[in-house]
Amino acid sequence: MENRRSFIKKAALAAGAIGSGMACSPETQKTSAHNATSEPIPTVIATWDNRKATQAGIEQLQNGGSALDAVEAGARVPEGDPNDMSVGYGGHPDRKGIVTLDACIMDHLGGAGSVTFLQGIKHPISVARKVMEETKHVMLSGQGALEFALAQGFQQENLLTEKAKTAWENWMAKQEAQLVNENNHDTIGILALDKEGHLCGACTTSGAAYKLHGRVGDSPILGAGMYVDGEIGGACATGLGELVMTTLGSFLIVELMRNGASPQQACEEAIGRIVKRYKNWVEEDKLQVGYLGLNLNGEYGYYSIRKGYSVAVAQNGENVKLESNFALG
Ligand code: GLY
Repeated sequence: MENRRSFIKKAALAAGAIGSGMACSPETQKTSAHNATSEPIPTVIATWDNRKATQAGIEQLQNGGSALDAVEAGARVPEGDPNDMSVGYGGHPDRKGIVTLDACIMDHLGGAGSVTFLQGIKHPISVARKVMEETKHVMLSGQGALEFALAQGFQQENLLTEKAKTAWENWMAKQEAQLVNENNHDTIGILALDKEGHLCGACTTSGAAYKLHGRVGDSPILGAGMYVDGEIGGACATGLGELVMTTLGSFLIVELMRNGASPQQACEEAIGRIVKRYKNWVEEDKLQVGYLGLNLNGEYGYYSIRKGYSVAVAQNGENVKLESNFALG
């Protein structure tokens, strides 16, 4: 039976429908700085409390770098951090104990590069950028992606830290589900808007902890883990990739913004689609997905299925962590 609380949540999601023109957050949530001019506001935003990443990105912009430089620099921060156990070096391995990495990058002109199932390379986002800039392809996978990276001068190294190995061994003994939340978060998606008004995005991950060997998530899939349209804005995702891939959430958010939605409305609608279609699965397995969207005015939005999601925002001289509103309790 529907209680008052679930009715209010549904009503809040419905209010997020396009063209409603109504505020749709159940609670007030900061979603943009006031833009008194039509000048682009240099902005770097990222999923989770990745303030070190947004700081690296905004410094790129301040030093004359492009939005593409900013998202690559930002994504490289958690990739190189052994204490971040869901991205790059130190990331959780798959069920066989092998760290496999997925990443993609996209620019304001529609250029894109992606790598999937890449092993032994610390910075997959930089390999993805090379795919974009040095090949006529968009996506390279597995052994081919590794061979390409080595040919481009990347070094192969062991990415499985002792900490991640011990956690994997403990998990193998118990095989308990891993909840994606603030303490055990996953993918970094990062979007940047530079002073030229160019908006670019990147996404990088070691994927779901202890996934089946060979599993690829949403993060390297353009339109799922991340998507940019230089005339509209961009979006990126974190959380269980299977829910994002089957609803193409990032593409959806950009298309909703194209049709007049604010980034906040678009993120709420994209989460609402997941909750509507996969409600039983989401509730049974306590699944999490969080979205982040940014438009060319520097307005941003973020929303998640459940409590615990946050974002980092560097804009107007500030670099802050913001807690997200959510659809389910
Ligand atoms: N969002 C990361 C993954 O599911 O692989």
